[in-house]
Amino acid sequence: MNFSEYLAKTGKYPVDLAAVKANGCYFFDAEGKKYIDLISGIGVSYIGHNHSHVISAVKDQIDHHMHLMVYGEFHHPTQAALAKKIIEISNHAFEQVFFTNSGTEANEGALKLAKRATGRPNLIGCLGAYHGSTHGSLSVSGNESRKTNFRPLLPGVSFIRYNQEEDLSIIHEQTAAVIIEPIQGDAGVRIPTKRYLTALRKRCDEMGTLLIMDEIQTGFGRTGKWFAHQHFEVIPDILTLGKSLGGGLPLGAFVAKRDLMELLTENPPLGHITTFGGNPVSCAAGLASIQVVETEHLLDTVEEKGAQFERLLVHPAIKEIRRKGLMIAVELESAEMTERVVLNSIQSGVLIYWFLSTKNCFRIAPPLTITSDQISSSCNAILTVIDNIL
Ligand SMILES: Cc1ncc(COP(=O)(O)O)c(C=O)c1O
Repeated sequence: MNFSEYLAKTGKYPVDLAAVKANGCYFFDAEGKKYIDLISGIGVSYIGHNHSHVISAVKDQIDHHMHLMVYGEFHHPTQAALAKKIIEISNHAFEQVFFTNSGTEANEGALKLAKRATGRPNLIGCLGAYHGSTHGSLSVSGNESRKTNFRPLLPGVSFIRYNQEEDLSIIHEQTAAVIIEPIQGDAGVRIPTKRYLTALRKRCDEMGTLLIMDEIQTGFGRTGKWFAHQHFEVIPDILTLGKSLGGGLPLGAFVAKRDLMELLTENPPLGHITTFGGNPVSCAAGLASIQVVETEHLLDTVEEKGAQFERLLVHPAIKEIRRKGLMIAVELESAEMTERVVLNSIQSGVLIYWFLSTKNCFRIAPPLTITSDQISSSCNAILTVIDNIL
């Protein structure tokens, strides 16, 4: 059946691959051609595809039940166990989790919570940020070309430049929240200084403004720690999660201290609700995935694996590599060249991908389980593609 006939899609040039099977770092098309997945479904399949521990946890949950009742009404051991685990791996920087369906919804919940907690009208986002495609998340995202034709968006939103301490003075007594990625993803992996994030935290504290960190892309070991803010020792008031959280199934969350979260129980009661958020099958997959990271000690390997990519991807056409752990942006000379490198790499069996807004870079975000041999052979294939294009 024709892919485009009944399915709405918003990209002009979908990659057009039809995978029929996936396992570990690989997926296979109908002809049996093997591809190595260097982007993990854009940061989702972080322990590889179809890990046996995750598959059995999912099957076990399905054998018990799937959806029963809207989130938060019934006691649900799988949800509770995943929430407890998230709090543990946050080193108890937070106390409670509200599960959503997706990343953008997690940000919507966080923005609402900040307004409810402070009673203030204004929000601040960062230039270059991507927080999702719904109205609230889009409003605080920092790429104007993605927003213009969808206005009016949320009122009272202003922007600061990322990693620029001078701009922090615009945070004031009417600012409910600043939302920031602790490492910007779609901006092409931009890593701030510890000094900047510390100054941001301080300014928010002085102004009574809540700090929201969007770790939808950076969470769950992608950068070598469970959460990227742990590298900087700067703790937000609200943490938002998605992508890897569901271990391959749809799941998002916002996470905060109990006293903050409890505000959503009154004025109005049920201040934030969702039908499917915290779906038990997604929670089972998410929890099983964290267990795999722990039992396979994957966090200890992430930085060295990222460094191996950086060591091997040396070529005159590569202008810069920006990276933390296995969250990698490779900058080339132009958008045209990036497009050709991505398409030709896919042809040669290596799935790399572009960014939404940063057109002269391609992204690498493989499963954390990738091996040294897989990294070497993938890098060789990418370098050969670049050589052939030049
Ligand atoms: C940093 C960040 N925030 C939010 C989102 C939106 O998540 P979702 O696509 O699950 O709504 C993304 C997705 O790419 C993201 O990278």
